[in-house]
Amino acid sequence: MKIRVLTLFPRMFDCLNESIIGRAIKNGILDFAAIDIREYSKDKHQKCDDTPYGGGAGMVMTAQPIYDCINAVDPNHEYLRVYMAPQGETLSDGLCRDLARSGDLLILCGHYEGVDRRVLDLCIDKEISIGDYVLSGGELAAMVVTDGVARFIDGVLGSSASHEDESFSDGLLEYPQYTRPPEFMGLKVPEVLLNGNHKEIEKFRRAESERLTALRRPDLLVGKRAATADEMRGGGKNGD
Ligand SMILES: C[S@@+](CC[C@H](N)C(=O)[O-])C[C@H]1O[C@@H](n2cnc3c(N)ncnc32)[C@H](O)[C@@H]1O
Repeated sequence: MKIRVLTLFPRMFDCLNESIIGRAIKNGILDFAAIDIREYSKDKHQKCDDTPYGGGAGMVMTAQPIYDCINAVDPNHEYLRVYMAPQGETLSDGLCRDLARSGDLLILCGHYEGVDRRVLDLCIDKEISIGDYVLSGGELAAMVVTDGVARFIDGVLGSSASHEDESFSDGLLEYPQYTRPPEFMGLKVPEVLLNGNHKEIEKFRRAESERLTALRRPDLLVGKRAATADEMRGGGKNGD
């Protein structure tokens, strides 16, 4: 899978060269590049922002450098073109899975007060938010999307089971994890995890997942019940 991020601050993405995503890039499983929008500016000082029409604080990223950059990277519109925006669809486990299946990804990062609406209307397929708060720029949000999506690309995680067992994969939060030693500062690992009985371990983990989800994210259980009821009625299978 290819991911191209369009940004005024490409060096911010150097940190993706670490750990799991870094290994995927090194091994060619993920083809990632951060492209400098400024290189496409036709302004003699390579300016990429201007004051907003109608007044107001801050600067707005101009349309021309972004338009030319997008069309240089993706001349035939083969990528899914995403703009990181607080107004977009909120990123979720389901959306990460969908994006990992939807082919190559071009991610535009805004900065300052945002981007001239016209270039978004002309070029962008989808807007994605990483939550109800405002960041200074789309770069950190684009990294979150890149990491969240890359985990669903075959070969990125050591074992494909890894992401099937994690929070949200089954509509629940993950059970607590423990590792050696069996006792730390007087706290013991639950006995059931030490006895090698896989059925019992699975039962314990499921119960812990449900308990934690009910405690911290009861909204997930409501969504899960609705989905189950819908499945029992045959919803979604016959197209109605
Ligand atoms: C300071 S923000 C602009 C906020 C904009 N004026 C508003 O009130 O909605 C600059 C850029 O950061 C990115 N950004 C900020 N918050 C974000 C979020 N929650 N999710 C995704 N991108 C975000 C967007 O690309 C945005 O263009």
